[in-house]
Amino acid sequence: MDIIILGIESSCDDTSAAIIHNGFISSNKIANQDIHREYGGVVPELASRAHQQNIVPVVESAIRNAGIKKQDISAVAFTRGPGLMGALLVGSSFAKGFTLSRKIPLIDVNHLHAHILSVFLQTKGENKAQPPFPFLCLLVSGGHTQILIVHDYLKSEIIGQTIDDAAGEAFDKCAKVMGLPYPGGPFIDKYAAEGNPLAFSFNKPQIKELDFSFSGLKTSFLYFLRDKLKEEKDFIDKNQADICASIQHSIITILMEKLILASKKTGIQHIALAGGVSANSGLRKGLIEGGIQNNWHVYIPEVKYSTDNAAMIALTGYHKFMLGEYGNLADTPFARIKSQL
Ligand code: KG4
Ligand code: ZN
Repeated sequence: MDIIILGIESSCDDTSAAIIHNGFISSNKIANQDIHREYGGVVPELASRAHQQNIVPVVESAIRNAGIKKQDISAVAFTRGPGLMGALLVGSSFAKGFTLSRKIPLIDVNHLHAHILSVFLQTKGENKAQPPFPFLCLLVSGGHTQILIVHDYLKSEIIGQTIDDAAGEAFDKCAKVMGLPYPGGPFIDKYAAEGNPLAFSFNKPQIKELDFSFSGLKTSFLYFLRDKLKEEKDFIDKNQADICASIQHSIITILMEKLILASKKTGIQHIALAGGVSANSGLRKGLIEGGIQNNWHVYIPEVKYSTDNAAMIALTGYHKFMLGEYGNLADTPFARIKSQL
């Protein structure tokens, strides 16, 4: 029997729907919300409204694109959290209504769990290298930064995490100080390509073991720019590429040092990257180079599956479906991280 899972993602500012057919991607549609750009960050109320507008057309498009009918869908997987409450309510209510009308299982998915499984996303016949269990995952997104041991599709263990800002927040906040649009991570990535990563240096956090801290780096960056701007009014414009390359290099160095330590401590040499920041070209390159130096096997999702998408939600739903781990119509979304898988 074919197992066809419809995935719904609405945790932040992307409305996405996807179809996973027997474990492979059949379609993945995303409606981005550009409206937030002019506000310099995601405005929760506007995000909820945009999800309301987008959800039906995005789901219809995902179903059409997969060449299936509504009646073929075996279950609906939706992001239960963490994320913006109003945004999550749109996706979860839609998923509940859909499963109720079709009398099929509802499957709740932890957004972070789904990011981890994004390394397994592929279309039929693609034959991408897949990490064997257990593997290490560096999960770097806008809200979270963690290193995990992934024991199987549904079980993982956090062995390190940020004690303050997430890596994505560090990118976005530094970009904001430079006057770049929101989210700034992709802009820093773009300008960094032309710059010298060693042009400027910033205070490095001294955090023990496998935990991270990015708030000190952000402050150091802020003071650095403030001092430079006092000396030269157009310092940022004149040095944009070098500033971007240097802050990006600092963030990547912090991430890589902890990952190397995690691999040494656990003895695990299969390393995966996940979460929105894994779209960063410097980090992707850094991991590949680090992999060669440290004898690792490295697994990186395609850029379109690094950032928020419903294919990862549907794939996680597929694995939960296979084990009969269904959700409940009374399940409510959770805004903050609850527990790992
Ligand atoms: O996983 P994600 O799409 O949403 C969350 O679950 O948070 O991650 C979003 C984060 C933002 O902070 C964004 O700036 C960052 O990922 N990001 C990047 C890049 N693309 C997205 N950061 C650096 N370089 C990129 N190319
Ligand atoms: Zn995410």
